[in-house]
Amino acid sequence: MRSPDAVPPLGPLDCQVWWAGLAEHHPNHHRLLDPVELHRRSAYRREDDRRRFVLGAVVARVVLGRHLGLAPDRVPLDRTCAGCGRSHGRPRPPADAGVELSVSHSGDWVLVAVTAGAPVGVDIERLDPAAADEIARSVLAPAERTNAEPTDAERADAVPGAGLFRYWVRKEAALKATGDGLRVAMTELTVTPPDRPARLVAWTGRPDLPARLHLVDLAGDPAYAASVAVIGAAPVIYSLPARDLLRDLAGRGP
Ligand SMILES: CC(C)(COP(=O)(O)OP(=O)(O)OC[C@H]1O[C@@H](n2cnc3c(N)ncnc32)[C@H](O)[C@@H]1OP(=O)(O)O)[C@@H](O)C(=O)NCCC(=O)NCCS
Repeated sequence: MRSPDAVPPLGPLDCQVWWAGLAEHHPNHHRLLDPVELHRRSAYRREDDRRRFVLGAVVARVVLGRHLGLAPDRVPLDRTCAGCGRSHGRPRPPADAGVELSVSHSGDWVLVAVTAGAPVGVDIERLDPAAADEIARSVLAPAERTNAEPTDAERADAVPGAGLFRYWVRKEAALKATGDGLRVAMTELTVTPPDRPARLVAWTGRPDLPARLHLVDLAGDPAYAASVAVIGAAPVIYSLPARDLLRDLAGRGP
């Protein structure tokens, strides 16, 4: 990942995935949040959760602001949950803005994926061998369970169970791109095995989606699995470090 001088322009097929490190959080960052986001921030009990939330909101605001020609704190983001109406839903820019985004956090990383209007979902998870059995139960579709014996490539994985996490992030990225989130069980989706290029193979009741939903695995940190899903034409993915954007903001006084 080379550090860009600024936020690059967003071509029609582009999907920018911005990687922000937890250590890049600065106490000034939350000044860019709107009142809804400040309320969300105050509800987190753990400092790291609070920081991850702030980083996601700030990177989204800076990147969208550059694409829309707005100051970061003026970017309108609606966080209304489609399921219950509370403010913990996917952040949505206004429909006529012509941009879409998705946010994911895990451990040391916060990812923000942005497209020129194509529905997008991103997911990152820290590899945790202790969670492998639970993932196998809650994530794998019946057809995938028969494939779940480790391949030679997976036996060589530095972290046991890493392949299961690849199933997980591919599916959660797809569920976030459609906006369903975990209201739809991951076992309803079938994706390619972890040692094959990522692809949605089937989605129960949604036969149109495998041809339209594009999945791409993201490599940024070997201790994590990450994938992005874009609905529409095949995307061109750019992984970009958010470090410089965040450092510039940290210098802003009150
Ligand atoms: C979205 C969801 C899949 C994320 O799970 P996770 O692995 O814990 O968390 P991640 O860090 O990967 O993603 C969280 C981000 O997903 C986004 N998000 C929330 N709901 C979303 C949805 N339905 N679709 C897409 N993205 C969503 C938000 O940006 C959130 O981060 P933020 O609040 O800091 O901006 C899961 O929380 C979910 O399914 N939530 C919705 C459940 C629901 O609708 N229940 C009924 C009403 S309460």
